[in-house]
Amino acid sequence: MISKKLQDAINSQINKEFYSAYFYLAMSAYCKTKDLDGFANFFYVQYQEETFHAMKFYNYLLDRGGDVVLTKIDTPPADFKSPLDVFEKTLEHEQIVTKSINDLLDLSIKENDHASASFLKWYVDEQVEEEATVSRLVNKMKLVGDNVGGLFIVDSELKARVFTPPVA
Ligand code: FEO
Repeated sequence: MISKKLQDAINSQINKEFYSAYFYLAMSAYCKTKDLDGFANFFYVQYQEETFHAMKFYNYLLDRGGDVVLTKIDTPPADFKSPLDVFEKTLEHEQIVTKSINDLLDLSIKENDHASASFLKWYVDEQVEEEATVSRLVNKMKLVGDNVGGLFIVDSELKARVFTPPVA
């Protein structure tokens, strides 16, 4: 059975993952209003991934005999300055999430909860991938600058992204 402390921390992480889903859905809507369908698709897939992250925690907590407590999700921003701004905000957000996952892993080690430590390693690896992907896109958007042709090339690349539920 999971400790109360870890249960509360995982419930808080479930909220953060759902907030992330909301945040990326707002970005997807913003990109759609700019007719950047590839960008909108990228963030829609990101929304699906975050929902998956939340549900993975949700199912884990139930498997460990814990109580799932769903709490209010904050309102994400609705407006952004540019496609570059959207990716910069994504990177900032993912760095915060990485810290939160690392704190959870620290807590599970402190609580001597080996099952949770093992479970959390999946998220540690996932965060490395998320930060790397977004960092590359921030750099790419900086290279594109004000070049509309470049913007449309990136948009068409991002159109190809699909959500594939991870096998885990
Ligand atoms: Fe659930 Fe983007 O981390």
